[in-house]
Amino acid sequence: MVGMTRTLDVSRDLYTTARRYIAGGVSSDARRTAGVPLYVDRASGSRLWDVDGNVYIDYVLGQGPALLGHCPPAVVEAVTAQVARGIVYSAQHAAEARVAERLCAMVPAAERVRFNTVGSEAAHASWRLARGYTGRPKILKFEGHYHGWLDPVLYSVHPSLDDAGPQDHPRAVPGTAGQPPAADLVICPWNDAEALAGLMDEHAGQIAAVVMEPVLCNTGAIEPDPGYLKAVRELCDRHGSLLIFDEIITGFRLAPGGAQEYLGIDPDLSVFGKAMAGGMQVSALAGRAPVMDAISSGKVAHAGTFNSQPVGIAAAEATLRILDEQREEVYGTLYARGRQLMAGLREAAAKVGVPMLVDGPGPVFQTYFTDAPAVRDYRDFAATDRAMMARLHAALLDRGVNMVPRGLWFLSTAHTEADVAATVGVFEDALRSLPLG
Ligand SMILES: Cc1ncc(COP(=O)(O)O)c(C=O)c1O
Repeated sequence: MVGMTRTLDVSRDLYTTARRYIAGGVSSDARRTAGVPLYVDRASGSRLWDVDGNVYIDYVLGQGPALLGHCPPAVVEAVTAQVARGIVYSAQHAAEARVAERLCAMVPAAERVRFNTVGSEAAHASWRLARGYTGRPKILKFEGHYHGWLDPVLYSVHPSLDDAGPQDHPRAVPGTAGQPPAADLVICPWNDAEALAGLMDEHAGQIAAVVMEPVLCNTGAIEPDPGYLKAVRELCDRHGSLLIFDEIITGFRLAPGGAQEYLGIDPDLSVFGKAMAGGMQVSALAGRAPVMDAISSGKVAHAGTFNSQPVGIAAAEATLRILDEQREEVYGTLYARGRQLMAGLREAAAKVGVPMLVDGPGPVFQTYFTDAPAVRDYRDFAATDRAMMARLHAALLDRGVNMVPRGLWFLSTAHTEADVAATVGVFEDALRSLPLG
């Protein structure tokens, strides 16, 4: 909070030891920071406490999963009860069928599902299924969209603009050393129906699926332009390509039926993770029955020791029940708090005189250092001042507010109006501390 003095002695000691035994001192590249990483001691509601006793209003929420806040009582109760009855079965159980049934009732384009553990797996499964179902080799992916960290998909997420190629015909830029060359991948700019039409013509008869984050949340928080998704859907139908929505972030965050409900466009396949299980690790591949039946028949392989593991499914059941049965209250709160915070941050930036864009649906949104009126795709995002955003992240953390370092904010139903008001005060103070202009 404003005026808080943050000491990090215990965190620093832990990091020193960790760097000896954990590569880079952190367990995911997403947690690398310039200074000492956050060492969390416990989490509850909208708050995190670190091992040094500092408290933070948390807008990272485990990178999105804690949509109902940390440790929602119904989820804790369901998980605790299930742990006593078995942690892993690697067999069928009653709750997975109930969760699958509810998921199919909630999500417009879900007629059948298969469960996995993390988002990267389900995303990978969707690409394989599209190729197996259509018999076509290529996937069209959009620049700046993220679909997990596995080799076939980790291309052109944050490409340097020196490597990225022409705007309407981007190159596939690898995300890491050691990655095999991009096979059968077509990279396209997002929010540009003309470029998509051109690339689909160029690769006619070869594209199994067009894959996207329906609201782009990994390089900004960018909604599709009016009419764009309708054009994408029509192009997919015309070319016989499947449309896949990666709803790992948008799923259950924007609406009980995900972005497909929020935007009114049905994909053929969608993947969910993060928010569907209140913080536990469960992901799902969902889709139209004729496509999913390529898995039912055994034509396309799908497996996993931990698929539908009972503790995660218990958490998903408790979470989805709340999202479904208390939808007015849940989504009313998420949108109201999100909009309140967005308006407050805009006002704070205007007061300090900083050019800043605050944009996104509300339950998730992005702050950008830019004087551009809008950010519509990855290249617009790349043109914003990302180094300054990293500084703002550090200044906020020092003052007890935790946002995703790239400037993304996740809301939960546990955030109160008082949390939002306190955050706006901290934000103004943090902005004033930056070497701006
Ligand atoms: C849109 C999207 N797809 C896939 C993934 C991968 O999910 P996971 O990290 O659970 O493997 C993420 C993770 O942030 C994501 O944001």
